[in-house]
Amino acid sequence: MKNVINIMLVAFALVLNSCGGVPEEKSETVGSENVFSVEEVLEMVAKENDVTRTLYTKAIVGKGKLQGMKFDEDWRKDNVEAGPLPALFLRGVATSIRKSPVPLGLYLGSDFPVNAANKFEGKQADLFKQIKKDQKPQFFYDEEQKLHTAMFADLASADACVTCHNNHPQTTKSDWKLGDVMGATTWQYPKDSLSYKETVEVLSSYAKGTVDIYMEYLDEVAAFKESEKPEIGNKWPEEGNYLPSAEVFLDSVKKLSSYETMKHLVVAK
Ligand code: HEC
Repeated sequence: MKNVINIMLVAFALVLNSCGGVPEEKSETVGSENVFSVEEVLEMVAKENDVTRTLYTKAIVGKGKLQGMKFDEDWRKDNVEAGPLPALFLRGVATSIRKSPVPLGLYLGSDFPVNAANKFEGKQADLFKQIKKDQKPQFFYDEEQKLHTAMFADLASADACVTCHNNHPQTTKSDWKLGDVMGATTWQYPKDSLSYKETVEVLSSYAKGTVDIYMEYLDEVAAFKESEKPEIGNKWPEEGNYLPSAEVFLDSVKKLSSYETMKHLVVAK
């Protein structure tokens, strides 16, 4: 699995190195100057997250449910044969990033959460009201935590989001509709600007987080009863009782998102 991440890194590195026209003396400092504002970087990683989250929700959870696959809060328990809910997938990514040396924070909150621990408070609650109105990202410096903070709308992008939240026993709102702002992802980083190296580290810690939680899911699947066990390989739940391997999953994320991110990295140069 490490290879997949390395390939992504190499892909980024190649794009960065191949744009030519960089004078020799400058190329030595490339990678150490701060070239991106923290806002730009958090926007890039939030975009990767949107793509990953929608892909997981639609192609794995949405289509998987039609095949009889289950997704549950207690997916990690031995007696529960299920995969992680989208929010728990995201929390898995956040946990993996927290364990990495990259000082990037990720949190998913709402004003009407299923889980009370996910309710926005203070400044974030105020800004979330604005996000609900215009769906535009909000940036601020959190004086208390000394962290640059960015919030991005989390939209009900798939039927699965709406039906699951509306019908959840602990829901605090049961009339969510497709397209609603259901919450926001909050991202935090300690510095106001980043070098290429730090930017690539942020993006790859996100990608690694995705692979880590997806692999945990596949590990759980390995312990399912034979009759229920999806086949893991190139196929997706759309075609039957199948799950893509971590490589195949990450490859789709890359196809859907990295092009935009790379364009950003190249243009900035
Ligand atoms: C199969 C059920 C299910 C699906 C599908 C689902 N969610 Fe959730 N969602 C949950 C549960 C349960 C939680 C609370 C998880 C926790 O933190 O314990 C949650 C948490 C959240 C939160 C954090 C606030 C809260 O409600 O606790 C947001 C925002 C959110 N989901 C939005 C979405 C969006 C947007 C989608 C579709 C892209 C989606 N959810 C799909 C069940 C679901």
